[in-house]
Amino acid sequence: MATCDPHPHPASRLKLAGTPPGAGPFSPVTRQDYRDAMARLGAAVNIVTTDGPGGRHGFTASAVCSVTDTPPTLLVCLNKGSSAAATFHANGVLCVNTLAPEHEELSRLFGGGTPPAERFKAGHWRRAATGAPMLVGAPAAFDCRITRAVEVGTHDVLFCEVVNLASDGAQDGLIYFGRRYHAVGSGGEA
Ligand SMILES: Cc1cc2nc3c(=O)[nH]c(=O)nc-3n(C[C@H](O)[C@H](O)[C@H](O)COP(=O)(O)O)c2cc1C
Repeated sequence: MATCDPHPHPASRLKLAGTPPGAGPFSPVTRQDYRDAMARLGAAVNIVTTDGPGGRHGFTASAVCSVTDTPPTLLVCLNKGSSAAATFHANGVLCVNTLAPEHEELSRLFGGGTPPAERFKAGHWRRAATGAPMLVGAPAAFDCRITRAVEVGTHDVLFCEVVNLASDGAQDGLIYFGRRYHAVGSGGEA
């Protein structure tokens, strides 16, 4: 199960506190300014799923990235206030399903406001090795166990060791940029 590690790694060479001499003072960055700037940072869209003792759930996520290939590890940022949060912590496993352009509607469905059972009525799912739902037709799927969770503000950063991979051969991907979906790989729009 995921645990919260509030202590920085002992080998960290980062100075985590304080402002360098000569820097600042900094004027506060508002939540809205931050969100507007993040809208200009394009990111791949994924559906992150889980299943296990806590039940089945899934949500759309763009805050997913690689941490290291040794051991193969990625991270997922999960809103602590979302309907999915408790389920992911209870299960300790998840599957990151990357999306193709034809998954735009599925992404909207998993983007909140719908009960989990409704979400899984759309799309084709099979059971990954961890038990998490894997999307048939995903360009790539990363089946993971959650090894650590670190709380940062409104979100939990989930560090996930990849235990299994799948790819259904889809060539094109789906990204979110400027608060809209875009197809990548073929030069087309979603
Ligand atoms: C394009 C897109 C990207 C999103 N990325 C994330 C993300 O990285 N992490 C996250 O916790 N929620 C993300 N969300 C929001 C969740 O999908 C979901 O709406 C939120 O967790 C609330 O769901 P709930 O109604 O089940 O509580 C994203 C939504 C969209 C549409």
